[in-house]
Amino acid sequence: MTEPEPSTVAALAADAPSTKQSVDPYNVSGEIGADGIAKAIDYSKLVEEFGTKKILDEDLKRFEEVTGHKPHRFMRRGIVFSHRDLNLILDRHERGEPFFLYTGRGPSSDSMHIGHTIPFDFTKYLQDVFDVPLIIMMTDDEKYIFGGPERTIEAVQSYTRTNVKDIISAGFDPKKTFIFSDFDFMGGAFYRNVARMSKHITLNVARAVFGFNESSNIGKIHFGAIQGATSFASSFPHIFGDDESITTQIPCLIPCAIDQDPYFRMTRDVAARLHFAKPALIHSSFLDALQGPGTKMSASIESSAIFMKDSAKDIKSKINKYAFSGGQMTVEEHREKGGNADVDVSYLYLRFFMEDDEELARIKKEYETGKLLTGELKALCIQHLQEYVKAFQDRRERVTDETVQDFMAQKRLVFSGNPNAKVA
Ligand code: TRP
Repeated sequence: MTEPEPSTVAALAADAPSTKQSVDPYNVSGEIGADGIAKAIDYSKLVEEFGTKKILDEDLKRFEEVTGHKPHRFMRRGIVFSHRDLNLILDRHERGEPFFLYTGRGPSSDSMHIGHTIPFDFTKYLQDVFDVPLIIMMTDDEKYIFGGPERTIEAVQSYTRTNVKDIISAGFDPKKTFIFSDFDFMGGAFYRNVARMSKHITLNVARAVFGFNESSNIGKIHFGAIQGATSFASSFPHIFGDDESITTQIPCLIPCAIDQDPYFRMTRDVAARLHFAKPALIHSSFLDALQGPGTKMSASIESSAIFMKDSAKDIKSKINKYAFSGGQMTVEEHREKGGNADVDVSYLYLRFFMEDDEELARIKKEYETGKLLTGELKALCIQHLQEYVKAFQDRRERVTDETVQDFMAQKRLVFSGNPNAKVA
């Protein structure tokens, strides 16, 4: 199979005017209405435009059958909503054939917020479920190349060090996890795959997929080859061995936010040409900012997000002060008409962070029928976020420089894949 995927062809034709919704690695925005205000992102439309598959109830059922684990609340609630070839990964898991997990982060600031931890929490769950190696890429080069003129290499390298500690705090198993920085790891088998990728990406394709133009620096144009080459097991001989006839056929599953899909859509096309296994993907949606649907958390705007360093008091005052409410103006009106949970940030955050499905459904119903008041809903949200952030901070406190070294060491990983599998 060497023909490009239809999704790439669609991307080649796409020429989105700025008022339409636009989601790509460098820009995430809902459609801008006539009032100049961004609407919530339409995820079904993205599935269609990108040519991915929506995660259906039958997929969740099969996931549970094959893994023996209840699907993560993000999957049950459509927060993780789309995929490419997840079924092939489940087939492999069932047969006990090897694959690995790959995710990453661009270290662009020291302040990680609750939106940043979502893909990592989900990845930690997948690591527990599948018991396979996990590779986490820190794209410090990306953040330098795409950053403004004031951004230095020293700055992004220092963000890498602090961000790695935050990422480890999601609870990953050091025996099964390799974290690397592009600046440090480039070379050897990894660079050979970067070169293979770059040889198969024309300027036309990079422009069409990412929207580059004549003024884009050439580092940006090349970067997709780097993010893509991490999808290949043969980039990591210290984990998978150096027999390329085996390693090039080991695929990965990439949990990522949907804005990263263009990189991997392109990688899948190139993989087919190289006769390498294509990466599979599982996509998550974004967590809205405190200001409500259509807004985006920003690491540089304190009032837009709950940060992982926030105290219990900070969380309480931010939710009370800023969290957009779907409630009515007065208590009387609220009791009579009920609130709108779909736009209510406190409810929205509970959807992400509360585990109990029945409790969540009860809260929604009581809010919509006016039984639960905005203040009461906010109190529930505050309590859950305080617990979530505190648990993170407790784990973060235990991460030392030695822990970081261990995760970033090029060592053999210990994993079993599927313990019930019939291995040849
Ligand atoms: N480009 C991503 C970012 O800016 C980082 C990244 C690299 C990544 N590889 C990935 C994210 C794989 C998800 C999956 O954050």
